[in-house]
Amino acid sequence: MQIIKMEKEKIYEEIANYYEKRINENPRIVLGLATGSSPIPLYQKLIEKYQNKDINFSQVKTFNLDEYVGLAKNNEQSYYSFMNDNLFSHVNIDLNNTYIPSANPEHISNYIELLKQNQIDIQLLGIGSNGHIAFNEPGTSKDSTVHKIKLDQGTIQDNSRFFDDINDVPTEAITMGLEDIMNAKEIILIAIGKGKQNIIKELNQCEAYNQNIPATILSEHPNVKIYVDLEAGELI
Ligand code: F6R
Repeated sequence: MQIIKMEKEKIYEEIANYYEKRINENPRIVLGLATGSSPIPLYQKLIEKYQNKDINFSQVKTFNLDEYVGLAKNNEQSYYSFMNDNLFSHVNIDLNNTYIPSANPEHISNYIELLKQNQIDIQLLGIGSNGHIAFNEPGTSKDSTVHKIKLDQGTIQDNSRFFDDINDVPTEAITMGLEDIMNAKEIILIAIGKGKQNIIKELNQCEAYNQNIPATILSEHPNVKIYVDLEAGELI
């Protein structure tokens, strides 16, 4: 697990260039995607690269980490809408090649099956201030796969910034499990801003998986880069 501290703008430039290289090397690449504020500047850079004809998404396949339970697909806060608004509708990706989990029990088992058939080449992650990755909240077991969870009160509080009222934030979500994330060939996590300082400090000190900080599982993966900006990395 390599922690790389650099200026925010440089982080996104470096990761976007890396995605360009990897997609050009393998146009059928399988990407694991995240939502939230951390990936947005990356998606903007990927859109620019598409517009400049540096990236072609026509054969790229994507799997999203998670989705709220109880929001209609077209609700502006659903992760389905987020992906369309922030990436998919701006590039030439085939929407049939984009997958986002949903709470339907049949859909959960399909998603598990699809992830078995399509190993993720690069999994993109953010990190919650409580150490969650995807929506694997503290206490999640190592061998978890796609499942429904109750969001922690802290996560509901953190995510209320996207909603008009905290009571509108869903209390449940569907998420890839820790095992699904660890199955990716390579993982890139982005942590930006002061709010991530404490969790990055703890992650930096960890030597093994600690159930109370789900992201510590990444210390057991052979190919993980954690990009932190100067604020998120101030305590390391
Ligand atoms: C989103 C996800 C979450 C976020 C995390 C950080 O798909 O899985 O784990 O990555 O909550 O969110 P931001 O980037 O908004 O700080």
